[in-house]
Amino acid sequence: MRALPSDLPDGPVFVPCCGTFPELDVLTGHLPGREIVGIDLSAGMAARARNRAAGNPLVRVGEGDASELDAGSAAAIVSVFGLQQLPEPDVALRSWAEALRPGGVLSVVYWPHSTEPGGAFTVLSEVLREHVPAGDRSWEERLVPALAGATLERDEPLSFPMAHPDADTFFTAHTRSGPMRPLADARGEEFIAVLREEFLRRAPEGEWRHRPSARHIVARA
Ligand SMILES: C[S@@+](CC[C@H](N)C(=O)[O-])C[C@H]1O[C@@H](n2cnc3c(N)ncnc32)[C@H](O)[C@@H]1O
Repeated sequence: MRALPSDLPDGPVFVPCCGTFPELDVLTGHLPGREIVGIDLSAGMAARARNRAAGNPLVRVGEGDASELDAGSAAAIVSVFGLQQLPEPDVALRSWAEALRPGGVLSVVYWPHSTEPGGAFTVLSEVLREHVPAGDRSWEERLVPALAGATLERDEPLSFPMAHPDADTFFTAHTRSGPMRPLADARGEEFIAVLREEFLRRAPEGEWRHRPSARHIVARA
């Protein structure tokens, strides 16, 4: 949270795509007394986020689409690994930038198209590409222009080590409770079994350690 200064304007901090709200403890520690509002589309995620926030009257969790926030409503916006899941990420980022009050700060981390050569995400997407056409990623180039009147303060890769017990565990998590769940639901078990086999053939044996790079964008209104 080093990108989030304490000299913010009055108002709440919004956390679009909060999931179970792992951002919450760091935010409350860094910004004591500040109203914090998490938003997630998934009812299950919002319920878990509310559990985490229980007992803190300054925290609210809304269930719904976080792509659009009210203009001039936010002291800060912090979003971690949600942007790439939105239908029009650049349009959402523009709305978030416009939601900042003067002096407010936007800090967004998301997974870009290319995270690292040979890592688990890359191998999985190479396998997938042989069966499903790539989605349009041109929105990534429109993110900085979408910041509208805000000043870009940071646009850099951020990488941390990740470890998975093995490739099969990674694949199961990704397709059952991760971003490939909608595809698994749509195409069925046989299709997922084919993908699994191809993925495991290309994956290393045993524990899989890798270091994917995310993209971190910080802007100030
Ligand atoms: C990879 S998770 C990240 C959750 C959390 N920020 C974290 O770092 O663990 C992405 C979250 O975005 C949520 N999401 C996807 N589309 C959304 C939308 N249109 N509006 C709000 N949340 C959305 C998903 O339900 C999911 O909880």
